[in-house]
Amino acid sequence: MRLYVTGGTGLVGSNVIRLARQRGIEVIASQYGPLPEWAVDYQLDPLDLADHDGIRRSIRKYKPDVVIHAAAILDQIVMDTQRELCWSLMVDGTRALAEACREVEARLVFVSSDWVFDGRADIVDETSPPCPVNFYGVMKVASERELGAMDGLNYAVGRLAGIYGLNYAAPSLLRKENGLGFDFSVYVIHRLAAGLPAVVWTGPKVNDEAHPTLASDCADMLLRLAQHDGNGGRVDTGSSIFHCFGSECVNRIDLAHQIAAAFDADPSLIMPARTDQSVLDEMRHIGIPYRTRASTKRTAKALGRRAFNVKEGLAAFRQEWDEFWA
Ligand SMILES: NC(=O)c1ccc[n+]([C@@H]2O[C@H](COP(=O)([O-])OP(=O)(O)OC[C@H]3O[C@@H](n4cnc5c(N)ncnc54)[C@H](OP(=O)(O)O)[C@@H]3O)[C@@H](O)[C@H]2O)c1
Repeated sequence: MRLYVTGGTGLVGSNVIRLARQRGIEVIASQYGPLPEWAVDYQLDPLDLADHDGIRRSIRKYKPDVVIHAAAILDQIVMDTQRELCWSLMVDGTRALAEACREVEARLVFVSSDWVFDGRADIVDETSPPCPVNFYGVMKVASERELGAMDGLNYAVGRLAGIYGLNYAAPSLLRKENGLGFDFSVYVIHRLAAGLPAVVWTGPKVNDEAHPTLASDCADMLLRLAQHDGNGGRVDTGSSIFHCFGSECVNRIDLAHQIAAAFDADPSLIMPARTDQSVLDEMRHIGIPYRTRASTKRTAKALGRRAFNVKEGLAAFRQEWDEFWA
């Protein structure tokens, strides 16, 4: 199989590529920002999602069997303040990629998000109507719908949630400072390992309860989707949408405590606190889903496995962490 990955230097993309290479899959990765921090055993192709002709050229050039489209803007402030640019990258860029996939008969796995939901329902499943509360969610829903409306496209939507893990292409990009867009688990691990308090925001404008998902675990699910046999898959899920989420929902304080336990760290350093005022000010126009509880049963049945629960995911993460930094 020849696999083309967008966002290959990102957290999700780097894990997809690592697993794909371990399985002997040929990989081409689009490259936008920083280069991988070491020599890689796959092809890199410079690509900006704003350059729609460039997207078509790249897909025509490599004629992959499957494309996993993980590239995206994740900065909520950029999305809120530069909507036209972000729409062009996220929605129009995804359509251009899908058209190119259809042309070369490649299967497309589009990476979407649990933030297509508002975080207020008791539980959502793969067929629940989306209800985004911010522009990021709107763009993900718009892309999902565009793909669904395209005749002759072989595709699946893999929604992800609360990703944590190692960036295997550029570990220096791991975000360990508390702030917008930081990596929660990496922050907690670094603080506790240094014997410093880990401040856990529990107030407004936080995604308090979610399904944390180890990046390497979701990479396995995305590769399963890549090799799935068409829209809807072996088991009829009723849609082409899959919830590649960790199989357990947890709030941030519990997650921080479970991280401490998995990394043999002192849980008394975990400090619940109200969200920083500066963040509240910055985010005042941006909705954040407060609590997203999702069913992953249909996806687990369709893909032949359920994702890790919190304890399993953190145990696997600890192993990856120790091996990586050894
Ligand atoms: N992280 C989460 O908790 C989470 C949750 C739900 C869904 N998701 C989805 O998962 C996917 C991957 O997220 P991630 O956590 O891996 O994010 P990430 O680490 O920030 O990676 C995003 C990737 O997008 C690429 N990118 C950004 N702008 C681009 C552009 N203009 N042209 C081409 N590539 C561009 C970046 O390339 P460079 O590295 O080269 O700059 C980066 O590799 C996204 O679709 C995201 O919406 C993530």
